[in-house]
Amino acid sequence: MSLVSSSFAQSSQAPAYANVLAKRPSDLRPFLSLHNQSYSNGSEWLLKDLKLNIEVQFSQQRLRASGEYSFQQLAPSNWLVLDVQDMQVLRAIDMETQRPLAFAIIENPYGSRGLKSGVHSHALVIQTDGIQDHLQLRLEWMTEPQSSALQWLEPSQTHDKQSPFLFSQSQAILARSWVPLQDCPSVRFTYQAEVTVPSNMEVVMSAVPVHKSMADSSHVRVLFEQKRPVPSYLLALSVGEFEYRALSEKCGIYAEPGLIKKAVWEFADLPAMIDSAEALYGPYAWGRYDVLVLPPSFPFGGMENPCVTFATPTIIAGDRSLTSLLAHELAHSWSGNLVTNHTWDDFWLNEGFTVYFESRIMEKVYGKQYADMLTVLGWSDLQGTLNELKDVPGDTHLHLELGTRDPDDGLTDIAYEKGRFFLMLIEQRVGREAFDRFLKQYFETNAFGTMSSERFIQLLNRDLLSQNPDWDMDQEIESWIYGEGVPQPWPLFSSTELSRVALMAQAYNRTRSLSEINTDGFTTHHWLCLLRNLELQDSAEMAALDRAYGFTQKENAEIACLWFVHAAHCHYRVAYPAMESFLLQVGRRKFLMPVYEAMVAGGIESKEEGFAMYLRARPGYHSVSRQSLDELFALETVEEDPLPFNMPNPHSVPVIEPPRESRLPDSQGGDGSGNGTTRDGGTLREVPVSPSGLDPDGGRP
Ligand code: BES
Ligand code: ZN
Repeated sequence: MSLVSSSFAQSSQAPAYANVLAKRPSDLRPFLSLHNQSYSNGSEWLLKDLKLNIEVQFSQQRLRASGEYSFQQLAPSNWLVLDVQDMQVLRAIDMETQRPLAFAIIENPYGSRGLKSGVHSHALVIQTDGIQDHLQLRLEWMTEPQSSALQWLEPSQTHDKQSPFLFSQSQAILARSWVPLQDCPSVRFTYQAEVTVPSNMEVVMSAVPVHKSMADSSHVRVLFEQKRPVPSYLLALSVGEFEYRALSEKCGIYAEPGLIKKAVWEFADLPAMIDSAEALYGPYAWGRYDVLVLPPSFPFGGMENPCVTFATPTIIAGDRSLTSLLAHELAHSWSGNLVTNHTWDDFWLNEGFTVYFESRIMEKVYGKQYADMLTVLGWSDLQGTLNELKDVPGDTHLHLELGTRDPDDGLTDIAYEKGRFFLMLIEQRVGREAFDRFLKQYFETNAFGTMSSERFIQLLNRDLLSQNPDWDMDQEIESWIYGEGVPQPWPLFSSTELSRVALMAQAYNRTRSLSEINTDGFTTHHWLCLLRNLELQDSAEMAALDRAYGFTQKENAEIACLWFVHAAHCHYRVAYPAMESFLLQVGRRKFLMPVYEAMVAGGIESKEEGFAMYLRARPGYHSVSRQSLDELFALETVEEDPLPFNMPNPHSVPVIEPPRESRLPDSQGGDGSGNGTTRDGGTLREVPVSPSGLDPDGGRP
């Protein structure tokens, strides 16, 4: 796929005036910088508030949208750079003068030295005045059907198979594929949105719905408000035919009509979880807490969108055994949504804190024995991940150095589990009471802000560890956060329940006798522990286990996933039809990867079979899952490099105020009406202006 051509050249909607910024978009490349996976110039302009207007067009699988942006200027600058992807930008208008602003999209400015892993991210460069303390900007755009954040589902991909469905997944850097913005977690803004959808459908956003009215005879318009500032990765939208049931005054469930009853039963403990979370670390800050159950192609287990967590239906197991995921997403309302990782290198501050917090909620609601089982399973996840990362030890640091890599690459259990066990270690050093006091204060004083690893260490020392000389953890902090693997000493934990299961599995592995296994009183977590510890070798052994326990028929997605991994390794073909139907149905990456990986590892025939299954299932997967699986099967897209150039430091780019006459509002020959040079209105004088007022053709100010 060539990414160097200008989107304008490809687009029939090409704004005729797009190139007024420079003779060629490529002339602007040297002025762009890539920091924390964003091309935006956040040190000059800061987004404070966004008013979105979105028309959801299912027939075209696109959003037709506009946004009114309030930017604050931090340093003089002649251009505003926003992140964009998979969209056509139609218009940019200075709302104060009502005049169009010149803009261009610079595609994938750094080529193969830009964002890695096939993130085809672009820079939208908009010309602004050099010095102004704020900018009110209006943008209009249209997403493309393949917009990476959005998945447009056919009715057949939903539970009820009645209506199409749309959902977004913005984390980590996909918000830019449906809204142009400064797509990095350190920028927070408030937002409102007016969303128009077919009148038989419901719509949710990561905000509070405040008003609903008919837009026309077949469409409704819903107004949302998010009064608390959020980072871009928490922007979320979903539209479908779903229903709502309240569980309490402040929480409830959205799900398709055919699933709502089961979902409500499964998630009945949500109000208790909220009470426990508040008792631990202070009041919930986001008003409502609802959960939307998405169709099974949702690529994650859950996503902590403020006010409404998005969740996979694969946690509806029929026995409430997989609801720790809700505790996890709820915990993010503090760790992540309230105190946000400053960059994706600090991702462990979101996830490690959240797993720790999740475990505390689970302990409060279900007791220590239950939470201990989850902790032991988390430790075994961590050991698996350390093993997988043997050749990339840098990725086992809590603090990552992603550089130009896609944050998605850093999305391993290191952030989650190494992060959690590090916090457990601190808790065990200082005692639960002191640690809880510290955490409560940490959430309170840093609310609606961001946190870097470095700052966290400062606060930890200042507000907690310095209180007692025995609590000095300098060494541990250094090696856990900036070092490889999991350094000793480890925190203490154990689960008598799972130790029992592990012993049975070991006995079986030695003797190959099923009589070693006693499954009386087994819960989902016992089964998971058993399946992880069994070392199975061939399909005859699999068949015997299947006869004894009916694994192939089990509907619990966590158990099914582990079983299918064994099936692929052991070439247990009896399970393949069930496995394929699972792979066709479920798009949750955590389940897909190990199953396909096992097929890839199983020899050439197995790999080809896996690839064939993937090709059949791929059209139903979200871009996030597709991207990882394309990599696994080496389905590569070839990128061309733009001409070589040096990556500039953004702060070394000179800011030179353009001459008065080169500023667009004064120089476009508008008719004085304030809207003289629109795309539709047509005539626009080409003015040779480039960022910083540096004219590539030599027309310096
Ligand atoms: N915020 C994450 C999901 C995520 C992380 C999406 C990074 C994109 C980039 C969410 O809170 C999460 O951790 N989900 C887990 C569930 C969990 C219980 C560990 C998942 O999806 O499996
Ligand atoms: Zn999480």
